[in-house]
Amino acid sequence: NFIPKIQAQAVCCSHGNVQQQWTRGKRTVAVLGAAGGIGQPLGLLMKLNPLVSDLRLFDIAGTPGVACDISHVNTQAMVAGYAGDAELEKALKGCHLVIIPAGVPRKPGMTRDDLFNINAGIVKSLCLGIAKHCPKALVNIISNPVNSTVPIAAEVFKKAGTYDPKRLFGVTTLDVVRARTFYAVRMKVPVKEVDLPVVGGHAGITILPVFSQVKPKKQMSAADIDALTKRTQDGGTEVVQAKAGKGSATLSMAYAGALFAEACLKGLEGAKGVVECAYVESKVVPGISFFSSKVRLGPNGAEEIMGLGDLSDYEKKALEAMKKELIGSIKKGVDFAKS
Ligand code: NAD
Ligand code: LMR
Repeated sequence: NFIPKIQAQAVCCSHGNVQQQWTRGKRTVAVLGAAGGIGQPLGLLMKLNPLVSDLRLFDIAGTPGVACDISHVNTQAMVAGYAGDAELEKALKGCHLVIIPAGVPRKPGMTRDDLFNINAGIVKSLCLGIAKHCPKALVNIISNPVNSTVPIAAEVFKKAGTYDPKRLFGVTTLDVVRARTFYAVRMKVPVKEVDLPVVGGHAGITILPVFSQVKPKKQMSAADIDALTKRTQDGGTEVVQAKAGKGSATLSMAYAGALFAEACLKGLEGAKGVVECAYVESKVVPGISFFSSKVRLGPNGAEEIMGLGDLSDYEKKALEAMKKELIGSIKKGVDFAKS
């Protein structure tokens, strides 16, 4: 039942993969920034995903080694590593999904916006490549500041004439993962049963877990709601401080990135009822052009952007409080891309 396959191009090993023919997935996925703290475990998790047939690992350097390593895992996806701008085309050609964790992470004392000057240019150049080589791919942006990098990507695609708002996503899944974990621990419910939307953006007060809609619903005190909201908003900073100068969340982010990527792939396959929160071009909150809320994923990407539903007074206030910052971050991204 095992057949040998020819090793994909640019992987350093020469032994060839052993593939399980009957489980071969259909989708080609690229990770850009694949040699980094998020990129490596995310690459591994995508190698484990049965929907993936071809996995392309791209970075400015180091990807031949990472790809060789991951390619030895005995799952069916073919793995190839590509390094440097000259190989971006090969990494992107034919991709159905491109995941971008390329860019610098925070150190203690920094905000995500402090990463703008470096990461804005990285995201812009990678999106130019996507517009040229795989304009129909779904794009999952992890690089911070997400509140600005997603609008940058949108502008790049608009300029190239390839923009489809249904295909561009800022990945906010880590906020959802955190909020669910914190709620489950605090309220003593099994974490796998917790369903909880997190809306807004992906930075500080723009992150809003909607505890009024959590399932299973437990009686939460105002103090609990406030504490869990703040902990979710500061979850990234908690990790940055704990890592003490060695970067930000990588492993939990790889897990969250793989969850969201899988939802996108399931949507492409036509699976029904695939709903995740994501930061997309949106009309959900008037005056805020990008916003994270529940999105139904399907063959064309974001098939439906769902409304916020009923919010508590606490959540309405938090929504008001985030508006200025979110609008400013979006404008900053748009202005950068246009300049
Ligand atoms: P890292 O420094 O460990 O890895 C980043 C990788 O990007 C490096 O390997 C680097 O070589 C690569 N890179 C830089 N420029 C590139 C380019 N032009 N093309 C391809 N690759 C390039 O950082 P990390 O910890 O993996 O974090 C990456 C980004 O993800 C950061 O901006 C971080 O803030 C962000 N992040 C976002 C979330 C989220 O929830 N959306 C969570 C955690 C981290
Ligand atoms: C996170 O939420 O962990 C990421 O956005 C990384 C960071 O800088 O906090």
